Amino acid sequence: MADSTIFDSTIELPMAELKQRAASLIGFERRFARVFANLKQLLAPDELKAWSTIHHGKLLPAIASLADRYPLVILAGDAGTGKTVSAEVIADRMVREMKKEGFFIKLSTRVRGEGLHGQMAQLVNDAFAQLKKLAGKDKLAFLLIDEADAIATSRATAQMHQEEKAAVNTLIQKIDETRELKGRTVVFMSTNRLHFLDEAIVRRAAIVMQFDRPDELERQELLEKELDGVSLTPKELAELVALTGPEVNTGIGYSFSDLRLRLVPEAIALAYPDKPLTFAALKEAVGNMQPSPPIQA
Ligand SMILES: Nc1ncnc2c1ncn2[C@@H]1O[C@H](COP(=O)(O)OP(=O)(O)OP(=O)(O)O)[C@@H](O)[C@H]1O
Ligand SMILES: [Mg+2]
Repeated sequence: MADSTIFDSTIELPMAELKQRAASLIGFERRFARVFANLKQLLAPDELKAWSTIHHGKLLPAIASLADRYPLVILAGDAGTGKTVSAEVIADRMVREMKKEGFFIKLSTRVRGEGLHGQMAQLVNDAFAQLKKLAGKDKLAFLLIDEADAIATSRATAQMHQEEKAAVNTLIQKIDETRELKGRTVVFMSTNRLHFLDEAIVRRAAIVMQFDRPDELERQELLEKELDGVSLTPKELAELVALTGPEVNTGIGYSFSDLRLRLVPEAIALAYPDKPLTFAALKEAVGNMQPSPPIQA
C-alpha cells in the first residue's frame, strides 16, 4: 500500500513550528519533563548504565528490568485537551534535547471510513514497517496512532470482528518488536476512551498521561497568553475565567480547544474589521456558545 494512504504526513524533526507551538501550550514543561525522564531510560540506556555505575558502583539489577519496558506512551482524555498536539511537540522537544534528528508519522484512523475494515492488521503492519525504516542509524522515529480506540479496542468486546481482533494482535506484536529497535522509536497512542483500549496494550505503556479540561488557573493562563495586547482589567479577566468554568456551565468547563479555537475567534469576529477586541465582545461570545460536550464514557 502506498504510504500516502496510510499516513497523514511524515514530519521531519526538529521543526521550528512545533517549537513555537510548545511555547503556547499551558503546562507543557511539566508534561514534557515527566515523559522525557521516563523515555530517556529507553532511548539512552548507556547514560543510564553510566549513572548506575557512578552512583552505585555497579549496574543495578533494576536497570536490566528497565530495558524490558516498551517505548509506548498513551495519551488519554477528553476531546480538545491537547493529546494530538502534545504528541507532536513532545517528539520535537525530545529530538532537540537528545541533539538528534527524527521523523514523526501519524497513522490515520480515517481508513475506517474507507472500507478498509478488513485490512486493519495490514495497515498496522505497514505503519510499523515504515517506522522501522525511518529509525535509521542515528535518527529517532515517532509513530502516533491517533484515536487509537478505533484500532486497539479491547478484544473482550463481544461484537468484535475476527479482522479487528487480528489487528489488535498485530498491534501488540508490533509494540513488542519495537524493543528490538533499541531506543530509536517511540509509539504514541491517543484515545478519548482509555477503558476501551485492549488491556494488553495499556499494560505495555511506559506512561499513561491523563489530559483534562483546563482548571481555573490554566484558563487564566491561556486567556492571558492568547489575549496579550487586549486591554482587559484583572477583574474582567477573572470574570471570563469564571464564565468559562464548570460551575456556571452545568458541570463541564471549556476545553483548551473551546477557548482557543471557538471562543476567541468568535469574539474577534464580533470586533473585526472596524473595532478593537474588547471585554464586551468576549463576554458576548461566551454568551453565544457552550462548552463542547464531554466524550461519553
Ligand atoms: N495545554 C494547552 N494549552 C493551550 N492550548 C491547548 C492545550 N492543549 C490543547 N490546546 C489547544 O486545543 C486544540 C486541540 O488540541 P488537540 O487537537 O491536541 O486535542 P485532542 O486532545 O487531540 O482532541 P481530540 O480528542 O478531539 O482529538 C489545539 O489547537 C491546541 O492549540
Ligand atoms: Mg486529537
